Amino acid sequence: MSVTVVSCRAFKHLFTKVRNKDTSPLEFRTYAKRIMAMICEEGLAELSPEPLDVTTPTGSVFKGEVVTTSDIVAVSIVRAADSMLDCFLEIVPEAAVGKILIQRDEETAEPKLFYDKLPPLAGKKVVLLDPMLATGGSALCAVDVLLKQGAKIEDIVFFNVVCCPEGLARFAKEAPGLRVVTGCIDECLNDQKYIVPGLGDYGDRFFNSV
Ligand code: PRP
Ligand code: URA
Repeated sequence: MSVTVVSCRAFKHLFTKVRNKDTSPLEFRTYAKRIMAMICEEGLAELSPEPLDVTTPTGSVFKGEVVTTSDIVAVSIVRAADSMLDCFLEIVPEAAVGKILIQRDEETAEPKLFYDKLPPLAGKKVVLLDPMLATGGSALCAVDVLLKQGAKIEDIVFFNVVCCPEGLARFAKEAPGLRVVTGCIDECLNDQKYIVPGLGDYGDRFFNSV
């Protein structure tokens, strides 16, 4: 398993906003979108870029790279990840889209799969989106659905905002080929299986449904 933690100076003040319990729902949404846009850009750059030399208007050659986007399927774990899917589609509007509805049981924190609707996955690069990785149960349940429908583990990249060592350790054990791009690795889970320090319930805060 590979884990890329996006390194970005701006994250310090952006994450301070979204972690603060006194941040209003409107501000939370604004700042979370700014964080997610950066993670989506950085994650995209991890998707098998090819070298490409281009000539600039000065006539000089710039040694660059290009990411092919025509074979990307973006999959959100509904509901919280729908916010991240919107950010991803701003960057890659041509991506095919899939949805997997998984909800954590509020008492046990165990994931429950309700529904999935996915385009063909064989031979595709799959971007699996979920802003929060806590126990890892929801994401692993989603990965299972993707694999059963033709995706290959080495073609799946998990885009995430906040994760924790417990979730990553479970990924390493149960989905070792998975690639992860995250905004930060927090300290641990608390007794309620929430990430600490974390930012609370991402879906409730983003969708203002507390
Ligand atoms: C949150 C989050 C993840 C999951 C992470 O969703 O968006 O999907 O919890 O926890 P886990 O790693 O322990 O499975 P939740 O089920 O609360 O639903 P929501 O998207 O409607 O907020
Ligand atoms: N889901 C969230 O939204 N936050 C957590 O800390 C854990 C799961």
